[in-house]
This record gives sequence, structure tokens and C-alpha cells, in this order.
Amino acid sequence: MLLTGKSALITGAAHRLGAKIARTLHENGANLIIHYRHSEEAAKALAKQLNDIRNESVRILQADLNDFDAVSQLADSAINAFNRLDILINNASEFHPTPIGSIKLKHWEAIMNSNCRAPLFLSQACAPALRQQNGVIINMLDIYASAPLLNHSLYCSAKAASQMLVKSLALELSPEIRVSGIAPGAILWADSNNKGDPEAQQAILRQIPLQRSGDSESIAKAVLFIIDNDYLTGEIIRIDGGRLLNSF
Ligand SMILES: NC(=O)c1ccc[n+]([C@@H]2O[C@H](COP(=O)([O-])OP(=O)(O)OC[C@H]3O[C@@H](n4cnc5c(N)ncnc54)[C@H](OP(=O)(O)O)[C@@H]3O)[C@@H](O)[C@H]2O)c1
Repeated sequence: MLLTGKSALITGAAHRLGAKIARTLHENGANLIIHYRHSEEAAKALAKQLNDIRNESVRILQADLNDFDAVSQLADSAINAFNRLDILINNASEFHPTPIGSIKLKHWEAIMNSNCRAPLFLSQACAPALRQQNGVIINMLDIYASAPLLNHSLYCSAKAASQMLVKSLALELSPEIRVSGIAPGAILWADSNNKGDPEAQQAILRQIPLQRSGDSESIAKAVLFIIDNDYLTGEIIRIDGGRLLNSF
């Protein structure tokens, strides 16, 4: 299997896309460190399922990425979990609208820290271990890193910074570590953005050339592609059904 003996840290992996990425890497032989913040039950349940398939192949670690010291502690514990680290997936993200006039420092911190500050400092703390394994970093980005979403200036800016982080770190950490990003479009509806609002969802779907939302499988496939292709770095792979084509 592609990832046998390798170890991967995935942030925010108890649910949704993070959990799908975790299952996929595990199916391909990787040992996992599943990070969570509040979703302890879901993280434990996922780890149990995967450990039942392969004994002692998954650990879980809790950290709030708003806590600066917790980020380096998370990196240390993740590296120690399997005495190596091959893959870091910066997936955790805070996403909610921040219309101008309503933005407070707490919104800046929640959105910037999870989407941008933590990916930088986690990458920095994991870099020595990743270097030893010719490892890979993947930042989960968004098409809204390249084209703005109304009322989401903080989120778009944080993802744009994380997108530049991918390119900057790809340059700086090469040749030992490859760094790439995935920019999903509408894959899973978020609670704070149109979940349960069929009209708003239809409006988004009408902008998508492929005329449907994506699924988590399409993201997991992109993760595997990035890990497997050893001549790829600094690249952002858009998985959006062509939606960004309609922004220009
Ligand atoms: N879903 C989509 O269609 C879509 C579209 C575009 C981009 N993306 C990107 O793809 C990635 C995954 O998307 P998703 O929708 O699956 O994510 P999500 O469910 O919105 O969030 C993933 C996890 O991030 C964690 N998190 C948030 N703030 C945190 C903090 N301060 N410290 C630690 N953990 C924190 C939460 O963990 P706990 O639950 O444990 O608290 C949450 O479960 C994200 O980076 C997102 O921006 C997704």
C-alpha cells in the first residue's frame, strides 16, 4: 500500500472532510494522528473504528489552535506518537460570516488562527521531522482564497494567506519537503453557510459548470494524488466543478 509505515497528522479530523481524509489515508496503510478541538466523542469513535481494522494505528490528540503554545505541543506529541511524521494536513478551519461593521478581535483571532497562523506554526514545528521522511504538507484552502465571498472578508483573507504560505513554504522547505494545497468549492454545506437553505444552495449550484456539488471522495483523491506525485510541490489543486471559472 502507498502509505504503509507512514504517519500522518490531520487537524480537525473528527468529522466531515478531515474524517474522510483520515479514513482514506488509513485505508492506504498510514498510521494516523487525528486532531480535534471540541469533537472528542466523534474523534474517539473514528479512532476506535480504525484501530479495530488495524490495531494501534490511530491516536487522537486534542488542541485548540487558538492557543499558541498548544500548537507546538500538538506537533511534538504527533511526532512522538509513531516516532516519525510523514504527512501534515492542515485541515481545521473556522468559517463564519464577518460582515464589515460587526468584526471584533475575537473573530479575527478565531478565523486567522485556525486557517493561517496554526498551519504556519504547525508546519514550522513539524518541519524537522517531515524533512527526515521527505514528507508532505497539504493545506486545505478554498476557492474563496482567489475570489471573494460576500461578507466573509476575514475567512477569504485567511485562506489567501494560507495559499501564499503553500507557495512560500514549498520554496523554502524544498527539496526535502513538498507543500501543496487543495482549494475545494461546494463539497459539504457548512452549518453557517446555506445548510438547510435549498434556494441559496441552488444559487450556488447554478454557478457550477459541472452542475452539482462535489463529494468528500473527490477531496480524498486529491490528497492521495499530492502525496503520491513526488514531482509536485507549490501547487494548488482546485476541486470545484469548474466554479471559479465563472468568477472572471
Ligand atoms: N466543506 C466544504 O465544502 C469546503 C469548501 C471549501 C473549503 N473547505 C476547507 O476544507 C477543510 C475542511 O472542511 P470542513 O467543512 O470539513 O471543515 P469544518 O467541518 O468546518 O471544520 C473542521 C474542524 O476544524 C476544527 N477547528 C475549527 N477551529 C479550530 C480551532 N481553533 N482549533 C482546533 N480545531 C478547530 C473543528 O474541530 P472540532 O469539531 O473538534 O472543534 C472542526 O470540526 C477546511 O479547511 C475548509 O476551509 C471545505
